[in-house]
Amino acid sequence: MYGTHKRTTMIQVGKPVRGTAFVGREKEIKEILNYIEIGQSIVIIAPRRFGKTSLVTEVLRRLKTKKKYTGFIDVFEHSTVTELTRSIIAEVLENHGLKKLYQQTKGSITALLKNIKLKAVVEDFEFLVGLEDDSIDQWTNFSQSIDFIDDFAERHDKDLCFAFDEYGDILKFDKADAIIKLMRAKIQKQQKAVYIFSGSYESVMETLFTNNKSPFYRLAKIIHISYLPFSDLRRYMVKMLKGAEIDYDIKLIEDSIDFLKGHPYYCQLALQQIYLYHLTQGKAPTIHGLIDIITQSERGYLVKTWEDTSSNKEAVLVLKHLSTESTGVYAMASREKINASRTLKKLEGAGIIYQEKSAYYYYDPVFQYWVANTIK
Ligand SMILES: Nc1ncnc2c1ncn2[C@@H]1O[C@H](COP(=O)(O)OP(=O)(O)OP(=O)(O)O)[C@@H](O)[C@H]1O
Ligand SMILES: [Mg+2]
Repeated sequence: MYGTHKRTTMIQVGKPVRGTAFVGREKEIKEILNYIEIGQSIVIIAPRRFGKTSLVTEVLRRLKTKKKYTGFIDVFEHSTVTELTRSIIAEVLENHGLKKLYQQTKGSITALLKNIKLKAVVEDFEFLVGLEDDSIDQWTNFSQSIDFIDDFAERHDKDLCFAFDEYGDILKFDKADAIIKLMRAKIQKQQKAVYIFSGSYESVMETLFTNNKSPFYRLAKIIHISYLPFSDLRRYMVKMLKGAEIDYDIKLIEDSIDFLKGHPYYCQLALQQIYLYHLTQGKAPTIHGLIDIITQSERGYLVKTWEDTSSNKEAVLVLKHLSTESTGVYAMASREKINASRTLKKLEGAGIIYQEKSAYYYYDPVFQYWVANTIK
């Protein structure tokens, strides 16, 4: 049984990580906790699969151990404003262990009032019964759920940290502008609640938060998260393989972290695949073999990312160029008579590439490798 348990935790890739699988980020966590402590809301920006959700979850977990109130919503999972409203309320109530009970009432006023604990909450917060009242529109309810976050904390004299993951996804709702404006206006005035906003699409997040005209400008402190440190990953991978009694190859571990630049998702995938290779082949794969396995298993994602980013000739040329050379993109552009700066900006905004001095790099090393080898 013990061995089985070790194996299952070992092979998980894709879900947000916690516990021993959570590597590094100590500096970021401390920084975020310090801001939260002083009541400063936070925005976490990173490219896809860099560990935003894992980081937010870990921050909230630590706050809970300090007896703070918390809440977590993944905006992506909600398709209507009413669903969002209900989830916000359920998350706030969970601080008193009432989420399940609240969800079971399915909005029925009778059911709400039947339960003694919920009834007590409803007595403090009357709007909760209005949720099922058809004469009250969904916007009023949503607006009151945002009030509820702070009012509930106030009522119990607690600090509350509420996280909206995939916040950029709010743009999918009708009247997204109105939602964002409303949230900003309310959040600014709140005393007990502090917020974490995190999201995948950098351009969206940037538009929402740093654009001068954008309603979220200056409301929240922006924190960028990057690759995981080499030494932390090395230690973690060695520990995991040792724990699984694998006769690991340290050079392979180091080479794979180097190649993958410390990308959180891919390093976990590499670890998983090294483990599985040992299991089936009884030995370590070569670094090239491992890279091929990773590229194969990510094919769908890579093709999709390519489709999303290479919409025109300029993007194709720039991505292709940067897949093998980090500099010289402007020289290439003038040879090809294309406008590189517009494309570079767009790719940066989408979290595909980043600039360092006068060079440009892919965030995703596997995507880079795939483009270099697949796109002709
Ligand atoms: N701190 C970490 N330590 C170890 N592995 C991590 C860490 N953060 C992320 N990972 C790995 O990356 C994967 C993606 O993490 P997570 O879902 O938190 O990222 P995300 O940025 O929220 O992704 P998405 O853009 O898909 O929402 C995890 O399944 C895990 O394998
Ligand atoms: Mg996420």
